[in-house]
Amino acid sequence: FTKPVLAGVNVIVTAGGTKEALDPVRFIGNNSSGKMGIAMANVAADMGAHVTLISTVHDYLNSPNIDEIQVNTAVEMKESLEKVFPKNDVLIMAAAVSDFRPMHKSTQKIKKDADKDLYTIQLQKNPDILKEISKKKDKQFVVGFAAETENLIPYAKKKLYEKNVDMILANDVSKAGSGFNVDTNEITLIRRDKEPETWPLMSKNDIAAKFWEYYDEHIK
Ligand code: C5P
Repeated sequence: FTKPVLAGVNVIVTAGGTKEALDPVRFIGNNSSGKMGIAMANVAADMGAHVTLISTVHDYLNSPNIDEIQVNTAVEMKESLEKVFPKNDVLIMAAAVSDFRPMHKSTQKIKKDADKDLYTIQLQKNPDILKEISKKKDKQFVVGFAAETENLIPYAKKKLYEKNVDMILANDVSKAGSGFNVDTNEITLIRRDKEPETWPLMSKNDIAAKFWEYYDEHIK
């Protein structure tokens, strides 16, 4: 049992990769496991926060302090987030949101055609949920993630300003043990007017604990 230092703090965490439907049985998705977001939710709840978890994955949740909202698509995630955002103090945007969705969703399963080898899917740009919600920011402390394969700090800083968020947790996904579908990550914490802080490689659970301790000490 952890000291309830986050009692009274209302937190939203988004987790998992969005699933953008092509037809009733198929979707466009990505490799996100949702582990980073689930760890953020579990640790915050353990420290006494009330957590709303908006997620595409269902995983082990260790607290009655977590209300879970299941979504599939980016548009559903955005709508759910907009409803709860005003009542919350912190947003952790850990979801891997698909930048595109199929323009048309077939109502029936798409059939293959005996005479056709080539098929085309037209994609439409999804909203940038983080950028849009940050425009409605009032008291909320908003945290985004950045996964990069080069120029980690400059690219992450650009995101901090373009998306108007308070913090970016950045990681180089080309490094061993970092990024999608592993239990560990090497995070660089980036804030405005502060030197970037790189944490050693550690488990996503330990990163979540370190992040919430940082929040308790420097932000709350
Ligand atoms: O632009 P990029 O995808 O690298 O930004 C990553 C951050 O932005 C993550 O926090 C992610 O959850 C969020 N994002 C979003 N909506 C999108 C794309 C990314 O909220 N369409």
